Amino acid sequence: MNLDSFIAGLPKAELHIHIEGSLEPEMAFALARRNRVSIPFPTVEALRDAYSFSRLQDFLDIYYQGAQVLLTEEDFHDLALAYFDQAAADGVVHAEMFFDPQTHTARGVPFQVVADGLLAGMAAAKAKHGVSSKLILCFLRHLPEDDAFATLKAAEPWLDRIAGVGLDSSELGHPPENFARVFAAAGDIGLKRVAHAGEEGPPAYVVQALDVLHVDRLDHGNRALEDDALTARLAREAMTLTVCPLSNHKLCVVDDLADHPIARMLRLGLRATINSDDPAFFGGYINANYRAVTDLLTREDLITLARNSFLGSFLGPEDIARHVAAVDAFATRAK
Ligand code: ADE
Ligand code: ZN
Repeated sequence: MNLDSFIAGLPKAELHIHIEGSLEPEMAFALARRNRVSIPFPTVEALRDAYSFSRLQDFLDIYYQGAQVLLTEEDFHDLALAYFDQAAADGVVHAEMFFDPQTHTARGVPFQVVADGLLAGMAAAKAKHGVSSKLILCFLRHLPEDDAFATLKAAEPWLDRIAGVGLDSSELGHPPENFARVFAAAGDIGLKRVAHAGEEGPPAYVVQALDVLHVDRLDHGNRALEDDALTARLAREAMTLTVCPLSNHKLCVVDDLADHPIARMLRLGLRATINSDDPAFFGGYINANYRAVTDLLTREDLITLARNSFLGSFLGPEDIARHVAAVDAFATRAK
């Protein structure tokens, strides 16, 4: 079996996908038409051409602007289902999906519209593709912690359908410790905790994510590799890292995909996974992210990455064991 078919056939979980980052330009134009709002680009091609970034903030500016076409429950349903159509075609059998409620509530779109729309899309994906999923509510770190508290409060009626909280948006200048109290509150109500750290921010931000936010999983984590003791700790604690190769390249976290640290992470014993982050903006869904770094990896590494995606998920132990067994069965068949 050739490598592309092997990657496509591997059962996998996606643990780092911002649902707003799966808004393809074609859908942005379709929703703008449906909702009678305007987009400041003349064509789909012009919008796609604007997807050229030299740092995280360049991307975030256009990502928040793009989200303005999302207004109704149907929009959020359609967005989620379109992602799951792509993910299922890529062999994703489970996804843990970030959403950024503040991006929408700040524009007057109620939390209810966002949450119910996404949950309906997730249910439709389960029925259509058999893909299971969980929701992770992200706090925007460029906003004050009080706003994050207000968002957690607004989420109260949905907390039985939300697996955890995350922390995203502009990393530099917004350290994890600024969100210590809201993460503690989320932990107290039994939510899982994850945070973006070490994407652009220094290793000290990764340490804060561990020691102050008490994360169950780390998003990106690339810059942890600058600190040997921290790297050894992440390996010892079997901390899952949700790594996003195409994102890292598009946002200039790595200059060249040939130098991407994914293989080094695995050699150092880190529980790394491969994910798409914001696939509509960075040039591909999960299999494209695997393919982008296959030159650095062995087939055994690809199997490890797929196994890690389930081991690092928030599924229960029986589901994890079932999915890991499916990875192993595929690997044996594909030899
Ligand atoms: N929001 C969406 N994608 C993000 C990323 N890669 N880093 C931080 N915030 C984000
Ligand atoms: Zn991300």
